Amino acid sequence: MVLRAPDGTVRVLSSVVSTQIAKHAPYGGVVPEIAARAHAEVIDVIIGEAMSQARLGFDGLDGVAATAGPGLVGGVMVGLSAGKAIALARGLPLLAVNHLEGHAVSARLSEPVDYPFLLLLVSGGHCQLLEVEGVGACRRIGSTIDDAAGEAFDKIAKTLGLPYPGGPALEKLAERGDGSRFTLPRALLGREGFDYSFSGLKTAAARLAEGLETEQEKADLAAAVQAAIARQLAERTRKAMAAYAQQQVDRPLNFVVAGGVAANRAVRQALTDAAAGHGFAFFAPALAYCTDNAAMIALAGAERLAAGMKDGLDAVARPRWPLDEAAALASPTHLPGRKGAKA
Ligand code: KG4
Ligand code: ZN
Repeated sequence: MVLRAPDGTVRVLSSVVSTQIAKHAPYGGVVPEIAARAHAEVIDVIIGEAMSQARLGFDGLDGVAATAGPGLVGGVMVGLSAGKAIALARGLPLLAVNHLEGHAVSARLSEPVDYPFLLLLVSGGHCQLLEVEGVGACRRIGSTIDDAAGEAFDKIAKTLGLPYPGGPALEKLAERGDGSRFTLPRALLGREGFDYSFSGLKTAAARLAEGLETEQEKADLAAAVQAAIARQLAERTRKAMAAYAQQQVDRPLNFVVAGGVAANRAVRQALTDAAAGHGFAFFAPALAYCTDNAAMIALAGAERLAAGMKDGLDAVARPRWPLDEAAALASPTHLPGRKGAKA
């Protein structure tokens, strides 16, 4: 839960995260039914804990923010219903927040980041570049044409025998590896636009992983994969930075990376270098706010509330909910193939 001081600085009064990773780990990925049940089991305890850590009663709140999508709809419905119940019982405004908008503002939990900014959102479910003009105003200029970057980390980690979630485990293994030992394909080289692709890398890595015998070889492949993902993210982002800089005449150049993959140090470094090379100020969330958390949703809600927005109690949970609805309509996300759901 987040409070916002009048001068615009953000103070996180409490941030309670309940992880259900252990419940999904035996299956090597998230099981939707287990996720929905796990949400329902803990939601009231978590809300109670967050309120007591913040030393606040419900009457001390200005509004209630809840994620309304996109994502596994069972869990989203649990959180949104709880938010609606508090809003109704206490007569508070409800903010039905897009999960991706939470990631978009997550860097602002730790330090001020002025609008507008160029945003790279890299998580387990999404990989997209957006121009963010202000609260709720985004334009998508690039996205993955197949897998999301976090998904690539997770799937390749699995072929290396690493536990779920694979991204952090792969990063740890890569510390002991020498990435120069393997050559991996470079996707979309020379291609126009700012899209990403990770499926070729995934296939190549899976094939290489089959023939590995020693722990050192696995660490070397992990290092090569991490470097390849960081390189592609940075290469395509550099192109977007160059184009963005041309169009932002006399405006500040701010770059933000957010989402679970932003926790990866190699990725952060590659993007820090890219930003420096193009004259952008670089911002990334504190590590704890890269992966999913309630604080970023509360902040997105607080920003919406301050901008005079609010939602009705009939707000629905949405499995799919693009940040840039116009771009999504132009290339629909519910169709298979290019620009599929993970974009
Ligand atoms: O944002 P997030 O918590 O959930 C989604 O909205 O998807 O991102 C989770 C993703 C997972 O794919 C996870 O493997 C990846 O972020 N991730 C990482 C690291 N920490 C989390 N990938 C690479 N290196 C990390 N340190
Ligand atoms: Zn997320």
